[in-house]
Amino acid sequence: MGRIIAVASGKGGVGKTTLVSNLSAALARYGQNVIAVDGNLTTSNLGLHLGVSLYPVTIHDILEGVADVNDALLYHEHGFRIIPADISIREVKRSRNKAVESMLYKLSGIADFVLIDTAAGLGKETVQFLRAADEVLTVTNPNLPAVTDALKLNTLATKHETTPIGVVLNRIMNHPSEMASEEVEDFLGIPVIGKVPEDKAVHKSIAAKTPVVVHSPKSLAAQHFRAIAAQLIGEEYTPRRSLTHTLFGWLK
Ligand SMILES: Nc1ncnc2c1ncn2[C@@H]1O[C@H](COP(=O)(O)OP(=O)(O)OP(=O)(O)O)[C@@H](O)[C@H]1O
Ligand SMILES: [Mg+2]
Repeated sequence: MGRIIAVASGKGGVGKTTLVSNLSAALARYGQNVIAVDGNLTTSNLGLHLGVSLYPVTIHDILEGVADVNDALLYHEHGFRIIPADISIREVKRSRNKAVESMLYKLSGIADFVLIDTAAGLGKETVQFLRAADEVLTVTNPNLPAVTDALKLNTLATKHETTPIGVVLNRIMNHPSEMASEEVEDFLGIPVIGKVPEDKAVHKSIAAKTPVVVHSPKSLAAQHFRAIAAQLIGEEYTPRRSLTHTLFGWLK
């Protein structure tokens, strides 16, 4: 069975969807069979990050019991599959916990990784995926409000017997007011497994509806996203060297 990992944060807007789209593409490049699930049912945007926004069958249909997982699975050109969400406002009326569990169980039977992009906040919508996942990958920005919400997330995850596997610090600007990686580790009691810098290439890649690891593979953000993927599968990551970097090395 594959690993079911909820990518969550507590605080909104810290980079969950960006991480899911990039990890999916990077893990696929490493030969892993990945399914990215849009678990952000009310303000879904994973499809927008990946350039797929109109689909006949979505996670809403699966959770309402009117479609099977296989009907909603969409093959993405970058080598992984997606369970998309409706982009219009659509409530799922039935009680969902059982449906979420059953969907994730089926998906983990046909993938190495099931990565769930969760919604902002720690409401019912997030918790139903958090409790059904095996592991949670925490995303935060290096500031106290975001890290405090990440702590709440990890406490909630542990209560539901979901293991916090590590934290990704995203949008690092190296500003003196930012929390250092060690401080975040002390505060959360879990290791920092990724440090992604603030990078304009991410904005450009989202505008181009393509993960930055594909759109600008040599950018700093892309290298850090690939390093996180490598860590998840226990591979050693060797950064790609840019031409300037290589030439500079020769000249030295
Ligand atoms: N490393 C980065 N460098 C620069 N900008 C980034 C980086 N990571 C994310 N962003 C920007 O931050 C914004 C929010 O990212 P994203 O949508 O991934 O967050 P989210 O946690 O999924 O938000 P929500 O909680 O609303 O679902 C995006 O517009 C993206 O451009
Ligand atoms: Mg998001």
